[in-house]
Amino acid sequence: MSETAKLTYDGKTYELPVVIGSENEKGIDISKLRSQSGLITLDDGYANTGSCQSEITYIDGEAGILRYRGIPIEQLAEQSDFVEVAYLVIFGELPTAEQLSEFRGLLTQHQFIHESMRNHFEGFLPDAPPMAILSAMINTLGCFQPALIEPEKDEHFMEASARLMSKVRTIAAASYKKSMGQAMVYPRFDVCYPCNFLHMMFSMPNRDYEPPQEAIRALDKFLILHADHEQNCSTSTVRMVGSSRANLYASVASAVCALWGPLHGGANVAVIDMLTRIRDRGEKLEKFIERVKEKDSSERLMGFGHRVYKNFDPRARILKDACHEVLNKLGVADSLLEIALQLEDVALHDEYFVERKLYPNVDFYSGIVLRALGVPVEMFTVMFAIGRMPGWIAQWREGHMNPRARICRPRQIYTGPTLREFVPIADRE
Ligand code: SDX
Repeated sequence: MSETAKLTYDGKTYELPVVIGSENEKGIDISKLRSQSGLITLDDGYANTGSCQSEITYIDGEAGILRYRGIPIEQLAEQSDFVEVAYLVIFGELPTAEQLSEFRGLLTQHQFIHESMRNHFEGFLPDAPPMAILSAMINTLGCFQPALIEPEKDEHFMEASARLMSKVRTIAAASYKKSMGQAMVYPRFDVCYPCNFLHMMFSMPNRDYEPPQEAIRALDKFLILHADHEQNCSTSTVRMVGSSRANLYASVASAVCALWGPLHGGANVAVIDMLTRIRDRGEKLEKFIERVKEKDSSERLMGFGHRVYKNFDPRARILKDACHEVLNKLGVADSLLEIALQLEDVALHDEYFVERKLYPNVDFYSGIVLRALGVPVEMFTVMFAIGRMPGWIAQWREGHMNPRARICRPRQIYTGPTLREFVPIADRE
């Protein structure tokens, strides 16, 4: 049974259709609002505005629920692996053994970057930000794969997805080696996705790094948890850029730039900076929290708060457990974890955070897991991007294959000067 919403303005009433999703979320379809009433809507940061209908990820922010294609994140983190989850996110179903084997084979087949792409790294200074390198090199991939990607064809798109997912991992590890002044390490053909990344990061020409199983599992779980998150800032960017029919590489390269910001994917770096500052200053946590709460404070409790989650981010719960697990199994202690745990406790008992429903998000604990694996803080947001690759690919494709797809072009309310004449420079005071 269809529902409508009524809007009354200037003595007239407009009836607008209500769209109801499979989880009973409801949205007013305003696509005819301007033509009927001359009105548009205004929503800073799109906090109340749906940009699309999507079948990929479901989040219930109040209940702290996250599901990829209907499957709870807790089950995927516990029972699946990143490559299988990537297939699910991109193609909508868990793969059969044969499909999974084919996808893994494509990831292995496409793990090298063109040898002349390696020369591009010579153009970057050793301290070049890895996110800048990643975005530039993803766009460069487009120069080496000029063939237009046809999202409609599953087998064609599976290869394009595998190519991007695999080469991103090689590029990321190569950017780390470049920053360390070390030789880039070629990928192996006989190890899993996360293991290959750790190999390319930490092996040396004279000895292979054999990561412990616990490290491989912790990284795999980290990547699964980052695989998609519906219409966040960087995913909305990949859809926005893709809506102009820009190719997959250009769209994903733009998403990398959006993710870089400290309010988004850059928060995992900001959390470690924050915890390190607290530790090195020996600052009392209550005092730090008081500073965060001050009106117009420059301090934020990084890794806390979320536009959608008004309860625990389920990924934060899983990563919090993963911190304990990986540190214990690797026999590594991290003083920052103790500070994070105490900081979480102080915040969750403080009215300021409780009344604003500010809870730990995915970034609060993720950096501690990466530190345990030996990943440097400069690479943290790159790790987020590697994990989010399947989500960006899936969302780009969904946007492309939407039969009603149009170029994204929001409206605005103009608040600048009204009509005035040009003044020749001689007459200006
Ligand atoms: C990610 O969207 C996604 O799904 C993103 C992501 C994904 O997987 O793609 O989940 C990944 O980006 C997680 C978020 C990582 N960012 C951080 O941890 C940075 C710290 N968090 C905040 O900056 C903030 O909470 C945001 C950016 C995450 C959300 O911002 P909103 O929804 O615009 O909320 P807001 O800034 O309007 O805050 C509402 C109130 C304000 O106080 P009042 O004006 O009402 O007095 O809450 C306060 C804010 O000052 N507030 C915080 C706070 N977050 C919000 N105060 C202190 N510390 C914080 N972290």
